[in-house]
Order: sequence, then structure tokens, then C-alpha cells
Amino acid sequence: MVRHFYFHIPFCPKLCPYCSFYVEVGAKNKTRRFLDALLREVELHAAAVQPRTLYFGGGTPSALTIEQLDYLFRGLRERLDFSTVEEWDLEANPATIRAEKAALLREHGVTRVSVGVQSWDDALLKTLGRVHTAAQAERTVHILRDAGFANLNVDLMFAVPGQTPAQWGATLKRTIALSPEHISAYCLTYEEDTTYFRKLLDGEYRQDVELDAALFERTMEMLPAAGYSQYEISNYARPGFESRHNQAYWSGEDYLGFGPSAFSTVGLRRWQNIPDTAEYTRRIFAGEDAVSFSEELSAATRRAEMMAFAIRTREGLAACDTAPFEKELREFRELGFLEDRDERVVLTTRGRLMADAIAEVFV
Ligand SMILES: C[S@@+](CC[C@H](N)C(=O)[O-])C[C@H]1O[C@@H](n2cnc3c(N)ncnc32)[C@H](O)[C@@H]1O
Ligand code: SF4
Repeated sequence: MVRHFYFHIPFCPKLCPYCSFYVEVGAKNKTRRFLDALLREVELHAAAVQPRTLYFGGGTPSALTIEQLDYLFRGLRERLDFSTVEEWDLEANPATIRAEKAALLREHGVTRVSVGVQSWDDALLKTLGRVHTAAQAERTVHILRDAGFANLNVDLMFAVPGQTPAQWGATLKRTIALSPEHISAYCLTYEEDTTYFRKLLDGEYRQDVELDAALFERTMEMLPAAGYSQYEISNYARPGFESRHNQAYWSGEDYLGFGPSAFSTVGLRRWQNIPDTAEYTRRIFAGEDAVSFSEELSAATRRAEMMAFAIRTREGLAACDTAPFEKELREFRELGFLEDRDERVVLTTRGRLMADAIAEVFV
């Protein structure tokens, strides 16, 4: 029985130059027909599911209009049993939230909104190609609070071109002052086929590994000191506000993804819907398969993948599971990157800076 659901809403007000998610700018395919396709896809699976977490990501789910959100959520309630839903997340870009929309989300039962703030510095927001200002992002947080949301996440990015430690420190400080329950602080990744990646290749942007590490260390000092526990490399939460949806991914639970480009993993089967909204919609209505990629993982690959996720979390791995890798891990252990805690192996603060290299050992 699958309990975790992801909905990919691929619309954005503008394409951010660092982003590699499958998204569309403009409203050509942001139609009732697309919503009907999503609902139809849900129907295909509705018999064998019992939702515990729902996650609307993208893209920008908050870019749907009030009428569209209302239509989609009503349709979902007709098709799925919501009685067991414990967490219902929705990602929002600050440029797309008004009081009426926030109220509608709350009325329908969304429990957690993730706000894409990225930075509280207007100059950096420009560098990031964001469509909102810092003041607008702050207003969005207040609008959501006023609508009754008691579980908010703020997304931030560090290692942005031109960002100084002082700017990042100020962004963390201002975020803490707003008191969200959860903070995601992502290190910028230069993703292939993005403007940022081209600028990196052209030499216009440069990566400074030491500076990036210093910014990450600053994050790991400031957020825990303010009561946010780092329960995964990029995620910090007040006690009890960890994202259950993401924890389900990291612990290797099955999940179904709906919408263009969405991934699903059930048992050892993984598949992805076609990353093309018009074609996704067409196929669904033609009764064709919307899947464009599918693979059967070996048990060993799936296990390795789960270990690579788990080592990035606060709980780390059971010591018995790492035993077969002790030889490969010895050097990391000697360098003080790993420690043993209650029969578990976890990353130290310094080890978190090396998480990718350590996770590779299992893959
Ligand atoms: C799908 S977006 C969130 C919602 C909304 N689309 C927005 O941007 O406001 C998820 C988050 O991923 C992060 N992100 C996107 N691209 C990234 C990249 N190349 N490197 C690091 N973080 C990235 C951003 O913090 C972003 O808020
Ligand atoms: S970062 Fe968010 S708003 Fe920007 S293009 Fe990616 S999904 Fe869209």
C-alpha cells in the first residue's frame, strides 16, 4: 500500500537561471484539462493507496489560480481517502501568494507551506533571477501565518555567486527572527543545461570550495543554536517539525509521483512520467502510458541508494549495516568524519562537509 504522494505542478512565473526542475513559463498548459489529467492519473492508482503524506512541488504549485487549486483539491478529495493524511505540503513562490489563496489552502487542509525565499538580500535575489523582493517574501510569511499556518518552511540557498559570509549570516539571522518551524538551506548546485552552468563554464562564475564550506559551517552553527536540529544535510527543524514526506523518501518508503516529470518508486520498480506537460496531458486522455522512463532496480542498488540517503540524516546508519564497508570507511573515521552513537554510525559536523564522498562508499 503506497502512502506517500508527490504532485508535480510544472508552472513558474519565470525560469530561475540555476534551476533544472522540469518547468514551464506561461499559462499555455496551465489549464483545467491539465488538472483533469492529473486527477485521472490519480484515479488509475486510487484503489491501492492510503495517503499519509501529500507533497505538491514543482515548479510552483502556488502559481495555480485560486479557482484551479480549488478544483484540483476538490477533485482529489473525491478520489482519495484523506482521513489518514498526516502532512500535506505545498511549495510556494512568494510572488504567487495573496491572503485569499493562503486562506483557500488552509480551508482545504494543507498543513505545511514551503516558501522559496532563497535570500533576504535584494541584490542576490536579482542574481538568482527571482521575481520577488525580500520584502515580498517577508509579507508572504506573514500572510501564511495570518491564514493560520503553524508549520512553515523557508527555502534558502548559499554559495550563490557574489554572496559574502556577512550576507549569508544576515539571511540566516533574518530567517531565525521570522521563526519558521523548518528551514531548508541548500548549497547551490550548478546543474547542467542551466544558465548558471554555462556561466561557470565561461568563467563568469567561479566556485570557491573553501568559502562554500565556511558558509555551510556557519549554517550548522547558527541554526542549531537557534533551536533547529539538522536532521538531514540541508534540512533543519524545530522538534517535531521534520518533514515526514522527505523522511519517507530518505528511509526508502514507496512513493507515487503524479504529473509531468514526476518519479515514482514502488518496491524495486522506478519510473518517470514524460517531462512535457502537453504530451503528458494528451497521453493521459488518449489512455496511453504517461511513463517515459522505467527501470527495475536490483535489490543491491536500492539498498545502496537507501544507505546513501540515510547517512545524510541525523539518525545515520545502523552499525551492523556499515560493517561490510568498514575498510572503505576507515579513513573517513580516522579523519573524524564519522562517529559511533548508540550502535549507529553518524556524520560529524566536519563529516557533513564530506557527505557526498562518504555516501559514495555505499553506491
Ligand atoms: C521547486 S523549488 C521551490 C518552490 C518554488 N519553485 C520556488 O522556487 O520558490 C525547490 C527549492 O529547490 C532549491 N533549488 C532549486 N534549484 C537549486 C539548485 N540548482 N541548487 C540548490 N538549490 C536549488 C531552491 O531553494 C528552491 O526553493
Ligand atoms: S527555482 Fe522554483 S520558481 Fe525558479 S524555476 Fe525552479 S521551480 Fe521555478
